[in-house]
Amino acid sequence: MDLDRGKIIISGGKPLKGAIPVSGMKNAAVAIIFSTILTEDKCIIENLPNISDVKVSLDILSSVGVKVRQLGPNTVEIDSSVVNPGIAPYELVNKMRASYYLIGAELGRFGRAYVGLPGGCDFGIRPIDQHIKGFEALGCDVKVEGGYIEAAAQNGILRGSSVYMDVVTVGGTINVMLAAVRAEGYTEIENAAHEPHIVDTANFLNACGADIRGAGTDTIKIRGVKKLHGVTYTIIPDMIEAGTYMILAAATGGQLTVTNMIPKHVESITAKLEEMGVSIEEDGDSVTVSRRAPFLNHVNVKTLPYPGFPTDMNPQMCVLLSLARGTSHLTESVWESRFRYVEELKRMGARITVNGKTAEVEGTPSLRGARVRAVDLRAGIAMVIAGLAARGVTEIDEIHHIFRGYEDLISKLKAVGADIKVIVPKATEYEDY
Ligand code: EPZ
Repeated sequence: MDLDRGKIIISGGKPLKGAIPVSGMKNAAVAIIFSTILTEDKCIIENLPNISDVKVSLDILSSVGVKVRQLGPNTVEIDSSVVNPGIAPYELVNKMRASYYLIGAELGRFGRAYVGLPGGCDFGIRPIDQHIKGFEALGCDVKVEGGYIEAAAQNGILRGSSVYMDVVTVGGTINVMLAAVRAEGYTEIENAAHEPHIVDTANFLNACGADIRGAGTDTIKIRGVKKLHGVTYTIIPDMIEAGTYMILAAATGGQLTVTNMIPKHVESITAKLEEMGVSIEEDGDSVTVSRRAPFLNHVNVKTLPYPGFPTDMNPQMCVLLSLARGTSHLTESVWESRFRYVEELKRMGARITVNGKTAEVEGTPSLRGARVRAVDLRAGIAMVIAGLAARGVTEIDEIHHIFRGYEDLISKLKAVGADIKVIVPKATEYEDY
């Protein structure tokens, strides 16, 4: 389906009810896919979400000689016995941010890397200075020019070292870990990010024979090993997808049981929703979410690195705050600017004023359907939530952003009563037009 020209059409205002399953975590999947380059053996990765960022990651691996075999809808075999570093096509690499893991993986395996600079959602500047600081600490010379990053270890061998991350960075933490796992000697990454996908990546690498301790804490300790062996590994559930569906339940005033998820990973989201008057019942690997009362209370939210309230839940939470009674404040502290979606939400009747890093949200009893666009991945899913909660019909353009991170979105939503469909204009329409 040509999603670049597709639209999502929603007839909203109905409370959604039923069970909605969570798929494998996008941000763990992309990191682990690139991590497979660090072993010459075959790996089997299970619970991979069938989303475009995973497909692009696998295409990048194939472009450098890795053999990828689909064993099932969510299972692939990755054979990295042969890898030709430095030849990944720019237009593929430029499609998403996570392609920068190719740098750490090529360095970790070959002691050298040559990769186009990454693309991804536009939140203002998205530097990689901390990645570079880590690579240089491991004994690499790093050059960034002409849209490419080139890194090479002096005499081809990376040497363990200590590196303090000046900024808490998920990508920087993972990338330095990838470069260090087969380095000579001992590495410490201090002021590391704690996200569950960092822990999942470290668990995958340790299952392959790496020696990584402390993932998920401030300091990650890595003792370099010569080689890594293959493994069969299952990706953890996506905490942002789970949080998205929890907010969807509260926004539509229905009741959703979000299944195949890890409640601990969404504790900060649960806490905020309960503050708003939402009931969250945990039961093993699922939570059941519904409003306690007809109204939602306003709250103040500040996004923070894990275990704080996730920045990737900013747009979704803003929709819910738009439906709460009273005025809320949403502060974005991770990204330089992540409020481009606000103009779209205001077309649906939301009352939001952005002052620098804080959005002031004055709640309104309901939103109204409108024609809007997805400005990035999480902004796009926020438009879906808004459309499902709003009265009337909502039409969303630029929906390719959304399908980067939400597997089987339309079927999962239809199964809980959503009136939603994707239409792709026929070529003839454009020809007539
Ligand atoms: C990852 O991006 C996620 N992407 C993002 O999710 C997420 O928003 C982000 O982590 C924060 O949780 C993937 O995992 C593929 P960072 P990443 O490096 O690694 C600054 C989604 O919707 N920084 O943790 O790029 C940076 O500018 C996406 O799934 C530096 O200053 O984020 C930002 O302000 C969107 N120098 C902050 O750190 C660096 O070298 C956090 O960035 C690196 C980062």
